[in-house]
Amino acid sequence: MRVLVTGAAGSIGSVLCSGLVDRGHDVLGLDLMVEPEGFTGGWFTADCADPDAVAAVFDAAVGSGGLDAVVHLAGIPHESSLPDALTSHVVTTGVLLDAMLEHGVSRIAYASSNHAVGFTERAALVGDDIAPRPDTFYGVGKVGAEALLRLYVDRHGIDAVATRIGSFLPQPETRRHLSTWLSHDDAVRMFDACLNAADPGFSVIYGISANTRAWWDLRPGRELGYLPQDDAEHFAGAIEATPEADSDRVDADHVGGHFTTDRFHRRAVDRA
Ligand SMILES: NC(=O)c1ccc[n+]([C@@H]2O[C@H](COP(=O)([O-])OP(=O)(O)OC[C@H]3O[C@@H](n4cnc5c(N)ncnc54)[C@H](O)[C@@H]3O)[C@@H](O)[C@H]2O)c1
Repeated sequence: MRVLVTGAAGSIGSVLCSGLVDRGHDVLGLDLMVEPEGFTGGWFTADCADPDAVAAVFDAAVGSGGLDAVVHLAGIPHESSLPDALTSHVVTTGVLLDAMLEHGVSRIAYASSNHAVGFTERAALVGDDIAPRPDTFYGVGKVGAEALLRLYVDRHGIDAVATRIGSFLPQPETRRHLSTWLSHDDAVRMFDACLNAADPGFSVIYGISANTRAWWDLRPGRELGYLPQDDAEHFAGAIEATPEADSDRVDADHVGGHFTTDRFHRRAVDRA
């Protein structure tokens, strides 16, 4: 499959691009950054919030061999101002969706976040059918992007999978990560499944490994073909032995962890 990966120079993007190439995909990278050394495949340096720049990328990508799907990772991966979050997550998604429609590209996999539902209590396993409960403007941006995907699926019949990613890391480092970890290999498995799933329509899946202590339900992902192989539990002994592990208990009432604390409160829009 020929795939455009946005945010290709980032931490998930760089792992994913080489992983998708290993799985036989033809990968085109897009990022604000210039092409990283050693990248194999086509590269575009562009801002996903700029519709003219993105249209030019799609013209070139489609013209040079077609385009089957987009994996949209580009975005600020942490809390920012509300306007910046909306631009980074909602506007970029809208720009890509419009370009997809204009160029006949019918599938997108999106890097959403657990923070779209961060204020959900940790009482039970969280499924794909719960109401949005963002814990930050970052989470609001992810909810908005998911809603936009849904709109384009319903109105235009494209396929869109929103992956609510937990903690993408080489290995878990804290007690929270024992529940939220997404390994590098499982991230590649997950996005590969998003690309290959038959008729996903609009789907929400959780981007975590097969963690024994998972807070999020892996069933929707498994139904789509995402079969995670790693489990953070293998690292539990070492993590439990560290004093830092206790800090994770302080903010453990909600799945969003410390993002739900007042430390993250700020005005939605600053006054002049
Ligand atoms: N890393 C995680 O654990 C995690 C968890 C949940 C969700 N996510 C989401 O996954 C995505 C990737 O996260 P990451 O950890 O790789 O972040 P990252 O910051 O390492 O990479 C993001 C990349 O996107 C690029 N970028 C940002 N805005 C752009 C724009 N407007 N146009 C083009 N390129 C742009 C940046 O230059 C960067 O290379 C983000 O959307 C993030 O919110 C990540």
